Order: sequence, then C-alpha cells, then structure tokens
Amino acid sequence: MEIPEMDASLQSRLQNLFNGATRVTVLTGAGISAESGIPTFRGPEGLWNDYKPEDLATPEAFARDPELVWRWYDWRRGLVAKARPNAAHTALAALERRTAVSVITQNVDGLHTQAGNRELIELHGNIWKVRCTACAVISANTEVPLRAIPPRCARCQRVVRPHIVWFGEAVDPYDYQRSVEMTRSADLFLAIGTSGLVHPAAGLARVAKTAGVTVVEINPDETPQSPLADLVIRDRASHVFEGLNFA
Ligand code: OAD
Repeated sequence: MEIPEMDASLQSRLQNLFNGATRVTVLTGAGISAESGIPTFRGPEGLWNDYKPEDLATPEAFARDPELVWRWYDWRRGLVAKARPNAAHTALAALERRTAVSVITQNVDGLHTQAGNRELIELHGNIWKVRCTACAVISANTEVPLRAIPPRCARCQRVVRPHIVWFGEAVDPYDYQRSVEMTRSADLFLAIGTSGLVHPAAGLARVAKTAGVTVVEINPDETPQSPLADLVIRDRASHVFEGLNFA
C-alpha cells in the first residue's frame, strides 16, 4: 500500500494538540504493533484472512479443540516474543512521563508495558497470562514454545486457557467503566491503529466526541470512527510519532 508522505502541517497540528493537552487518552489496536512485526487481524495481511475467528477465538472453539486453539496461540506467542516496541509505543511512554496519559489497548502483546506506559488498560487481556478453566486462577506463563499443549494449572493441574477476551465474551466491566471515565475526562483522545469494528472499544471515540473531547485518528485506512475525528492522519503510527517531540 502506498501512503503519501505526511503533510508537515498535520504533524505540527498534532504536536500542538499534544502540547496543549493536560489529559490524553489513547485507544490502540493491532495497527500500532504492525511495525513491530505482529500481524493485524483485518486488512490485506490480516490474520482473519487465513484463520477463522470462530475456530480459534471463541469459548466454543476452545471447548471443542483446546489443542488447536493453544497451537495457534503458541505460534502467536512466538511472534510476540520476538517483537519490540516501535517508535509509536515509545513515544506514548515518553508522553506519559510529561503529561497525564492513559492507554486503553485491545492488544494482548504487552508492548505498551514494555515501552514503559503504566496507566494502561489491556481491555482484551494479555497473551502471557493464562487462566485455569477449573479454579479460575490467573497466572503468568512465558514459555516459548509451550512445554505442553494444552498447558495445565500449577495449582490444580486442570487445563488453562489464554487470559484473553474472545468473541462472544464480555470485557471486564470494571475495565470498561474505567475506560469510559478516562475517555470522558480527557481533553485529547486518539484512536491509533484500530479498525473500530469490535465493541465495546469501538464505541469509545463516540464517547469522547459526545463529551466534547478532541478526537484524533491515526490509521492508513478509513474506519467507522473517521467521521468523528477532528484530525485524521492517514499514515503508519510509527512514522507519525517519529516526527514528534515529547522531551
Ligand atoms: P484490526 O486488525 O481490526 O485493525 C487494525 C487497524 O490498524 C486497521 O484499521 C489498519 O488499517 C490499521 N493499521 C495497519 N497498519 C497500521 C500502522 N502501521 N499504523 C497504524 N494503523 C495501522 O485490529 P483491532 O482494531 O485491534 O480481538 O481489532 C480489534 C479486535 O479484533 C482485536 O483485539 C482482536 C480482533 O479480532 C480478539 O482477538 C478478541
């Protein structure tokens, strides 16, 4: 895909918005990690072109074939293990050192934490956490590749599942409530690298707009949230942030 060079005036408008903001809330999706080498779900090279979410990312799929689901997650964990935060992740961490920044991410890759963001909601979970299907204990599991598929709970030896929100499952209501509050109380809201198709995260841009918060979208492609944005930057996230200064 050919993306035109970013207009310098767009970049300086974005820099001015950051400079003037006292509370920034950022919603991120798979696109922010694309340049770290982690495939997105939708789009020309998206995972959902080659795999069906109903076979791999639903509770029914896991009940039917936990080994298949775990083999897919084992492969993705291998990709994530090799990935490092890119310029967009590190810029958001630098921004948090000088301004109040909350990041709400749909990504399970942990790259915002690795970059240094602390005020973070992982709305869809984390690929390095597992949850026991019997005793519900959540624990860290960073084996790459997994020693046993499916992995088992250290406490009760029953099968664990990825601690990830799948299709047909609800996000943690507390996390969602906090996300809405962070969005409403911001003076600048950015949607970066998300297709805006998966709810409830997809509704946050409208929450921001309704609350009178300035909305910025950074995405090479048009999305359903584009018409809500006060500023749209059609570019890759890392390219946009490489040109900004948060020192
Ligand atoms: P998607 O894969 O749906 O969308 C990624 C978005 O990133 C697209 O709009 C791309 O145009 C954009 N994009 C691609 N490269 C980019 C770049 N370098 N910089 C900026 N943007 C770029 O990912 P999400 O919106 O995160 O859920 O998807 C939401 C949820 O759907 C995921 O959390 C996952 C998925 O199914 C589950 O697995 C439950």
